Amino acid sequence: MAGGPGSYVLGEEEKKELLDVMESGGLFRYGVPGVDGFKHKVASFEKEMAEKIGVKHTVATSSGTGSLLCCLAALGIGAGDEVIVPGYTFIASISSIILSNAIPVLAEIDKSLTIDPNKIEELITDRTKAIMPVHMLGNPCDLDPIVKIAKKHNLSIIEDCCQSFGAVYKGRRAGTYGDIAAFSLNVFKTITAGDGGAVATNDDNLYERAFGFHDQGHKPSRMGVEVGNRSIVGMNLRMNELTGAVSLAQLRKLDTILTKLREKKSKLKNLLGNLPHVEYRKLNDEQGECATLLTMIFDTKENAEKFCEAVDSKPIAYSGWHVYNNMEQVLNKVTGARANCPYDCPRYPYGREYKKNMLPQTDDILSRAANISVGVVDRGLGSPFGININSGDDEIKAAAEKIKGIVAKL
Ligand SMILES: Cc1ncc(COP(=O)(O)O)c(C=O)c1O
Repeated sequence: MAGGPGSYVLGEEEKKELLDVMESGGLFRYGVPGVDGFKHKVASFEKEMAEKIGVKHTVATSSGTGSLLCCLAALGIGAGDEVIVPGYTFIASISSIILSNAIPVLAEIDKSLTIDPNKIEELITDRTKAIMPVHMLGNPCDLDPIVKIAKKHNLSIIEDCCQSFGAVYKGRRAGTYGDIAAFSLNVFKTITAGDGGAVATNDDNLYERAFGFHDQGHKPSRMGVEVGNRSIVGMNLRMNELTGAVSLAQLRKLDTILTKLREKKSKLKNLLGNLPHVEYRKLNDEQGECATLLTMIFDTKENAEKFCEAVDSKPIAYSGWHVYNNMEQVLNKVTGARANCPYDCPRYPYGREYKKNMLPQTDDILSRAANISVGVVDRGLGSPFGININSGDDEIKAAAEKIKGIVAKL
């Protein structure tokens, strides 16, 4: 089975919440006019998520991608604006910027596999409006220096928390450091409803705009269609009550899931000890990361390739989805200028072109890096091999022995 930890612990709790909705007959997030007994699962999910993450507002959405679009729209980011985003991320971080008619400016990652704070300032121009740190593979970015840079240059921060629901950085959850944040409930994520997402923010105005964008311009908590009260052009990115029901049950399992993952990862790491040829990726908060994956960085590209071959995997650089070098949707195209633009944007003289190998530091790290699953079993992320959230001690021991055996022969 492939999937994230939440998908491995689906059970009676999700079933009960779902049945509740089915019995009420109200599948739409606003209920059915004239029908009593509506269960408010989406609204309850929003309220409980805000409490759990420690933010004032959340908006439940239909996906992480939709949530990123809401964040960008809430901040008013549009034509000609530049957003700094790492080259190691899911395409949605980049495509949501393009679909907002703005320009993604790709940044290097460091050995945490998240954006390198030392490589951000050199990318800032007078068109830069925001930084989008992506908390990749459950590991929060090093947010302190990023927040400092954003303040110094008057930039907004959109946290992409899609791969790190519940992660903690220096005592606070990821998603509470920037102006606004996006979360995903896709099947490969920490908690899941198959698909789904959420936006989080402490800012009343951004909340109202994000909510409006996700619901055809309506104000939060609308009753019916509030004609005359719609202030932003939006779309339909609403979550429905069935998704809300599963999301709510999963949210209530979040802390148990994170505790289990951290325990299992720590067991695996202890069994592995210090391995020749290998260093583990840098963790920006050792205790706070989600522990969904164990990332090994080898001394050479050749050793990473040999190791991955032995576990029927690939180094992260070649594992598919999450590396700019593998995003044919944007490679050799220009954003911010009409020529070759994947979107019909206005003409700007300062278009950006995306080329293979344009980020040498990122390429070097990812060509030497291998993901071992702890909770996210996903070939597309380079983690088809490892353990999962339900693995017992024997399975953890077997995985450790296999890894040690392969590394010993390099
Ligand atoms: C870093 C990152 N951002 C955004 C997304 C988009 O989330 P969704 O698939 O829910 O649209 C994902 C999901 O894979 C992701 O990993």
